[in-house]
Amino acid sequence: MKKTNPFLVLLFISLFSQNISAQNEAWKKAATEKKQDRLAWWLNDRFGMFIHWGLYSLPARHEWIQNMESIAPDVYEEKYFNLFNPDLYNPDEWAKMAKKAGMKYVVITTKHHEGFSLWDTKFSDFNAAKTPYKKDILKMFVDACRKEGLKIGFYFSLIDWHDKNFTIDGIHPLRNNAAAKEDNKNRDMGKYRTFVKNQVRELLTNYGKIDLLFWDFSYPGNDGKGKDEWDSEGLVKMVRSLQPDIVMNDRLDLMEDKWGWDYKTPEQFMPNTWPEHNGEKVPWETCQTFSGSWGYHRDENTWKSTNQLIAMLIETVSKGGNLLLNVGPTARGNFDYRAIERLQQIGDWMTFNSKSIYGCTAAPEKFQAPKNTFLTYNKETNRLYIHLLQYPFKTLYLPGFKGQVKYAQFLHDNSEIKYRESAAAKASEHMAITAGADDLIMDLPVVKPNTEIPVIELILN
Ligand code: GLC
Repeated sequence: MKKTNPFLVLLFISLFSQNISAQNEAWKKAATEKKQDRLAWWLNDRFGMFIHWGLYSLPARHEWIQNMESIAPDVYEEKYFNLFNPDLYNPDEWAKMAKKAGMKYVVITTKHHEGFSLWDTKFSDFNAAKTPYKKDILKMFVDACRKEGLKIGFYFSLIDWHDKNFTIDGIHPLRNNAAAKEDNKNRDMGKYRTFVKNQVRELLTNYGKIDLLFWDFSYPGNDGKGKDEWDSEGLVKMVRSLQPDIVMNDRLDLMEDKWGWDYKTPEQFMPNTWPEHNGEKVPWETCQTFSGSWGYHRDENTWKSTNQLIAMLIETVSKGGNLLLNVGPTARGNFDYRAIERLQQIGDWMTFNSKSIYGCTAAPEKFQAPKNTFLTYNKETNRLYIHLLQYPFKTLYLPGFKGQVKYAQFLHDNSEIKYRESAAAKASEHMAITAGADDLIMDLPVVKPNTEIPVIELILN
């Protein structure tokens, strides 16, 4: 028998592993370099709808109810799974409402922390098609959104309280149950990682082109889970090979890897300024609710007004970000009447004013926002938008704008707004307007135009 030369074996192993690591580097490099390109549609569109829907719409008191009330997963399943039968579910209506509100993309919870999948997954029976409803809810949703020309985003929870291999950690519903925690030794996160990959592969293979993936979420450290528990790198690598252009958020615990995320996701608060990472302004999206919880919550009475929501959209864009506004449909499959009303009103505003949102970003630094306004700016058209949050009386002072403006009009009706570059002298002192030497003075109608937040469009020099 011939002896194998140990030197050759070693050489082979080292060449083989070098090749693997070069391949690894190649996909990371490509993922980093193409970031701006794949984000182009998303940066332009600015406004999307989030949808949180799952079994938690039945108890109707928060999507974290299982955690908050320490409900064991089997008890939860036993109680709600066979009651899930949303007879009013009409995804065409949902898609139409999103579109009419001016939203350009939708992100739906394919699976939330409870572990219930909205699609007919091969890898778990805890899914919508196995409930009395019997259908693949996700498939219906995707088809409806495509018909309306909306971009499709999938939210996927890395956390799964239902899966028997997912170890009981600090936020698990069984965290205070000592006997159940003992069972951790029988739980196998390796198997869980395979399960997650199988599910994500299914989602990114069977539903056509998916534009966005929203991972949720990492909480590394003691009693938590992060990139090692998820195999975040393996997930990104797989996703990039299945859907190379997909846009991904930042919750995989890979913040220090440029290939590991595309945009930041501040949640339920408004950042003070354009969010940064390592001193650099980054793409970002804030996700917000109408009333506080993400899932349908019957008794929550903290609904934001339409005015607040429109202002929130404008403020977000004025800081270079996107807004993902959430609806939590009821267990029968319809939107809450308050969500419907607000979406319609946002749509009324967007019909006439969306030019100050799409394709817009923060104004160049030399423009200082006049009092009670937010500024947005469209680089392509070189137009600046002044959003009048509090409608002023007759005179609007634009600090330092002198010499910058070619023409001014209201955005909703293209009616000209007259302005002056210096305060005209008046015969009597008590009627003379005073303004700074570099200010521009606009003469507005006394009556506020009939649009929730009036917008002035400035064509710049
Ligand atoms: C979270 C929550 C959650 C919600 C989400 C939206 O971290 O766990 O219930 O789905 O973020 O961003």
